[in-house]
Amino acid sequence: MNNQLRTVVQAMPKAELHIHIEGSLEPELIFALAARNGVALPYASVEALRAAYAFTDLQSFLDIYYAGASVLLQEQDFYDMTAAYLKKAEADNVRHTEIFFDPQTHTARGVAMETVFNGIHRACQDSPVSATLIMCFLRHLSEEDALSTLEAATPYLDKIIGVGLDSSEVGHPPEKFARVFARCRELGLHLVAHAGEEGPPAYIESALDVLHVERIDHGVRVLEDAALTARVARERIALTVCPLSNTKLRVFDQMKDHNLVQLLDAGLVATVNSDDPAYFGGYMNDNFIATFEALPLTLAHARTLARNSFEASFLPAEQKQRFLAEVDAYFAAVPA
Ligand code: HPA
Ligand code: ZN
Repeated sequence: MNNQLRTVVQAMPKAELHIHIEGSLEPELIFALAARNGVALPYASVEALRAAYAFTDLQSFLDIYYAGASVLLQEQDFYDMTAAYLKKAEADNVRHTEIFFDPQTHTARGVAMETVFNGIHRACQDSPVSATLIMCFLRHLSEEDALSTLEAATPYLDKIIGVGLDSSEVGHPPEKFARVFARCRELGLHLVAHAGEEGPPAYIESALDVLHVERIDHGVRVLEDAALTARVARERIALTVCPLSNTKLRVFDQMKDHNLVQLLDAGLVATVNSDDPAYFGGYMNDNFIATFEALPLTLAHARTLARNSFEASFLPAEQKQRFLAEVDAYFAAVPA
């Protein structure tokens, strides 16, 4: 990648649409919160914890990710985690972010729903970055558990813009959550789901047809089904792609094998996102640099990715247009 392209992908205004806030918890903060809360960790040091980040697939990551989240107990812990992520986002010229969080990971440990919502939401309000929240249901748990989570979140629904579906994909198809997503749809919430990360294209199809999601998180396996690819392109269903995550979890062996260029060249509304930046080797700009270094991505692709990120956001039309105009102004000033 030449220096100009590197500068462009770093400096261009962008939105992040796929970030699990619990996945932004850096080892140093995990240890600081463990000390503050008197939580014992099964790792002797920051270095020992970091050394355990050698993943072979999604589940091997999730086991460590849920262990890391065990240090979050007080509202201030959720605030500090979110504020630290938003500082990184701001430094990467992220103008808007739609943040996932997993309340079940915390309520199962006896943390109150109010503590989770208030800490994360207050940090969003205090940041100069536009930040909204998407509550995710853990798909390895039952639909009844998701329904009672939605019920418990009722007093705080004004603090979220939508719901998502994450955790172990294979064996937990979207259909399992048809009723809870139907309820969320009635409530007027935006809907997204992880699909086609490790799971087959059929999961992307049922996320669209059964859950009625508006975006697909990951979705990189869509290219295995030509008819589905054509449909996702035609309907402008965005894919929130997470390149460093995909290589760390062996969805692709190496970045040079990633299908981001094929997704874009198929006319899909693909975006670049960090997923779990503390675990996968970096935040937004690290993902842009890693992909632009390894793949034949151009200045035109950079502009498309920046535009896609705002187009695919759940921002009100007027704000979306304002950010898109900012992207266009940025690229108009870049020498061709
Ligand atoms: N996939 C599924 N669940 C997750 C992920 C992911 O990449 N990150 C955090 N929870
Ligand atoms: Zn994810």
